[in-house]
Amino acid sequence: MGVRMLSREQARRLYDRIGARQDTQAFYEDRATERLIQQGDFGTAHGVLEFGCGTGRFALRLLSQHLSADASYRALDLSPTMVELAQARLAPFGSRAEVVLTDGSPPTSEAAASRDRFVSNFVLDLLSEDDIAAVIREAHRILAPGGLLCVSSLSSGAGSFSRLVSRAWSGVHAWRPALVGGCRPLELLTWISSPQWQLRHHSKLAPFGVPSEVVVAARA
Ligand SMILES: C[S@@+](CC[C@H](N)C(=O)[O-])C[C@H]1O[C@@H](n2cnc3c(N)ncnc32)[C@H](O)[C@@H]1O
Repeated sequence: MGVRMLSREQARRLYDRIGARQDTQAFYEDRATERLIQQGDFGTAHGVLEFGCGTGRFALRLLSQHLSADASYRALDLSPTMVELAQARLAPFGSRAEVVLTDGSPPTSEAAASRDRFVSNFVLDLLSEDDIAAVIREAHRILAPGGLLCVSSLSSGAGSFSRLVSRAWSGVHAWRPALVGGCRPLELLTWISSPQWQLRHHSKLAPFGVPSEVVVAARA
């Protein structure tokens, strides 16, 4: 039997309910996103697209500390509550930062070769396998050649303790996906293969035992 995922409508309702409480996940997410920032060379970026921006916390870090003053940022999210929170948080950046509500589909209407960074943190792990493949395909289309795909997610773990946590997490997900935000551990490299992508960085970490994974790959 396949893994039971939340539908887009269920995910929208869940994240509308979670709202600002999403930021309590920083205790494990921040180690992965810090690594993503180190490896994603954001200082040279001109245009960033983030898929599933949540409250805009990562965007705030990028815009205030890492992106150059002429770089622009655009985010997509399917939760109206998250979009409002992110818009309020990023308002000081004016037209450089844009947050758009979507229906949760893969981003097929973004212009081709229009960005040099495609970011998604802890979102692919709540999508169906078909949607993950479609989002990665769209990332390839949206990125200009040489642009970087920068993604992080829950993962299957590296050491014995994090593997145990990962199995327990998958068990809870199979029982009641909403209890773990609809997210289950993934192996990101399953979806990111050559010759479309050149792998620049791959690592697994397990802050507080929660296994996560970071991938940076250049669009070939
Ligand atoms: C686990 S949260 C992660 C939020 C943020 N990236 C972070 O790291 O804090 C997942 C986010 O993805 C959004 N999301 C879930 N499914 C989505 C989809 N199909 N399309 C766009 N956004 C989605 C949710 O509304 C939520 O904001």
